[in-house]
Amino acid sequence: MVQFRLPMLPRSGQLPWNAKVNGEEVSLHIDGNSILLDVLRDQAGSLGTKRGCDMGTCGCCSVLIDGEPRLSCLTLAQEASGRSITTVEGLSDGHHLHPIQQTFAECGGSQCGFCTPGFLVVISALLEENPQPNDDEIKCAIEGNLCRCTGYQQIVDSVKAASDILISGETTEDPTSAKSDPHPSLSEGGD
Ligand code: FES
Ligand code: FES
Repeated sequence: MVQFRLPMLPRSGQLPWNAKVNGEEVSLHIDGNSILLDVLRDQAGSLGTKRGCDMGTCGCCSVLIDGEPRLSCLTLAQEASGRSITTVEGLSDGHHLHPIQQTFAECGGSQCGFCTPGFLVVISALLEENPQPNDDEIKCAIEGNLCRCTGYQQIVDSVKAASDILISGETTEDPTSAKSDPHPSLSEGGD
């Protein structure tokens, strides 16, 4: 006997989707009702964008759309079509970390790390707009991001240390040292 399985929801048609993801033009075909988080993780290869609550309460899935922080779990992919999307993978400058990535490592802003991509993305947008935020401005910027590990003070400290780097124009990392480069063998053209 032939059995038919009916889907609970009708599948929506496939649509072309184009966006600039971390500076690279990406062209895909996606379901018309796809969520941006799914497209980034499953089709665009941005596994740094994390799925936490999937309901807009944890901030793990934060990305920048045209420089503005957005929750990718609550954003239809079609809304981001034709726009510029930055995920955590797009924050570094080549092999060199964004100041907030560097200071998270130095100040203990990251422990288990699951929430970290969302924090880094949101804080990078804050520092872009306001390179010298005060405590209240930092807390306001990260109020939508949850961390179960750090207790938040190390995250606030990381933002202030990154601000110092941006304001002084100096980095504490030695650009020639292996520490500044998470993949030293690649940049040396070795192995
Ligand atoms: S996964 Fe999007 S807010 Fe939690
Ligand atoms: S570092 Fe573990 S949840 Fe934030």
